[in-house]
Amino acid sequence: MLGIAILAIDGPSASGKGSVAQRVAEVLEFAYLDSGALYRLTALAAQRAGVGWNDEHSVAQIAQSLDVRFENERVLLAGQDVSAVIRSESIGVGASQVAAFAAVRQALLARQRAFATKQGLVADGRDMGSVVFPDAQLKIFLTATAEVRAERRYQQLIARGESADLAAITRDLQSRDERDAARTEAPLRQWHDALLLETSGLNLDQVVECVLSSWKTRMQSL
Ligand code: DC
Repeated sequence: MLGIAILAIDGPSASGKGSVAQRVAEVLEFAYLDSGALYRLTALAAQRAGVGWNDEHSVAQIAQSLDVRFENERVLLAGQDVSAVIRSESIGVGASQVAAFAAVRQALLARQRAFATKQGLVADGRDMGSVVFPDAQLKIFLTATAEVRAERRYQQLIARGESADLAAITRDLQSRDERDAARTEAPLRQWHDALLLETSGLNLDQVVECVLSSWKTRMQSL
């Protein structure tokens, strides 16, 4: 991976890292990896195959053989557009469960690393800077308070015309955070060499600006 420009952005659910990473990738003209989508796709594929999310061995086999394509904004599973389905709250819960299994994480590792090409890469997830791309030139840990993240998720759901309950979303986010942070495999935490970006008081443009200027500074220092 030597010589390939990689910007790793990790953080908890609904921290806004997906939107930020996508915008930053556009500006830098880098490829973009939404690693959470791979865990979501694994959960969906397992559900469709009638495999329980608690069956580590079978879920890992499914992860290994996922037939997935990323086409611009669309995600295709076995040729079918599942972009909206994988964003549902129930698939998010499944993703968090399957992501706790070492065999599943291992099965998705090479697929994630394959996104790193000469074009450069912005990768977002939970373990981009710690496990998948430990040599990334810049690692950012993006976060916001649980209340702010719940409010952002609530607004997203409402904008999509879905029904939403703020208290339930807050509870859900907190239990997902706990599960992601407490697991033994690649737990969610700020990696020692990651830059902390607390975004509670910032809008998307401000966060994107901040990440871009950190990248520029880092590139100048190399
Ligand atoms: O970022 P997201 O909400 O789409 O991620 C869905 C789930 O996948 C989340 O519970 C954490 C897990 N995940 C992970 O364990 N490691 C990653 N690199 C990305 C996501």
